[in-house]
Amino acid sequence: MLNIRPFIEDQDEPVYIDILNRAMAEFSDFTPMTLTDAEIEKNAPNIDKQGRFIAEWRGVAAGYVYAYLDTKREDKLGFLDGPFVIPEFCRNHIGTALAELAFKSFQERGINKYEAGARNTNIPAQKFVEKLGFKMYRVFSRMKHALSEIPENVGENKDVVIKDIGTDDEALKLENALLNEAMKEHFNFRPVTLEETKYYTREQQKQGVRYNDFVAYVNDVPAGLMITSIDPKEIEHQQKKVAWLSVLGVLKPYRSQGIGKALMIHAMKFLKGKGMDEAMLGVDDTNITKPMKIYESLGFEVVFKFYRYLKES
Ligand SMILES: CC(C)(COP(=O)(O)OP(=O)(O)OC[C@H]1O[C@@H](n2cnc3c(N)ncnc32)[C@H](O)[C@@H]1OP(=O)(O)O)[C@@H](O)C(=O)NCCC(=O)NCCS
Repeated sequence: MLNIRPFIEDQDEPVYIDILNRAMAEFSDFTPMTLTDAEIEKNAPNIDKQGRFIAEWRGVAAGYVYAYLDTKREDKLGFLDGPFVIPEFCRNHIGTALAELAFKSFQERGINKYEAGARNTNIPAQKFVEKLGFKMYRVFSRMKHALSEIPENVGENKDVVIKDIGTDDEALKLENALLNEAMKEHFNFRPVTLEETKYYTREQQKQGVRYNDFVAYVNDVPAGLMITSIDPKEIEHQQKKVAWLSVLGVLKPYRSQGIGKALMIHAMKFLKGKGMDEAMLGVDDTNITKPMKIYESLGFEVVFKFYRYLKES
């Protein structure tokens, strides 16, 4: 009844997209994937194309998994992307069979440590990864804030100069350098190459995503970075004017001076000026630099938690 076969590039993309979109349809904030998104993923500079499988149940495509290996990481950590099983085929151990094949694929590439993720509201996924022997090891939060009222006088630095630096090649070079410096202690972070920064920004811009890079300057020296993004596809799907505060980073010597709050408030005002109603962000709850404290002090609320799990074999 069950046949699992390798993913065939330039043929299976529509099959994969259909499985993914149907498996994730119950999550209203999940924006369906398009063929163009799959193309962007496929041509990305850090992609390892091995480890993708399609499960067929009685000859019908029913599930997908990707044993993803980031080729630029040095720590030999794999990421289990999925499995995704179309709801009508769930509870037939298709997910388990796909995951086991993914583990085998990792092991063949010398990887014995894998990560998986599940949000707190996704009980099937939690039970599923626990049964596979994963242990929860980190918690993240998705947070939101209505832009109707933007807080002020909450300890933000009022002397820092914040500029929108644009997104030309020079700007992306500065963005990349600030990101890598500010994020280096971040959980699971690995330096992002300039090639990747340019690739993802340019490809998303071609899709109509609007990016803005804001840099905070202290005495003309870059001290912090905020990246905002507005995705028309997401707005259309959600029927809500939502935007992202995608990255916030302040360089170490400039921390605890209200620069992070100043960048947040500046970006929220900017997004409101663009007609957005809500700002969202993702945060690592136990980040040692405690960004969650900034977000809470600005009135952000948790939408859901995202658990990260680890398994070693
Ligand atoms: C999570 C998912 C992949 C499971 O796929 P599946 O083929 O139904 O899973 P299996 O049949 O192999 O289930 C294996 C075990 O997981 C647990 N499990 C799976 N679905 C469950 C559910 N709805 N409720 C409780 N436990 C569940 C059970 O322990 C199950 O074993 P059992 O059936 O012997 O009791 C599927 O529900 C899915 O695609 N969800 C949406 C996408 C997603 O969240 N993927 C991320 C996975 S980390």
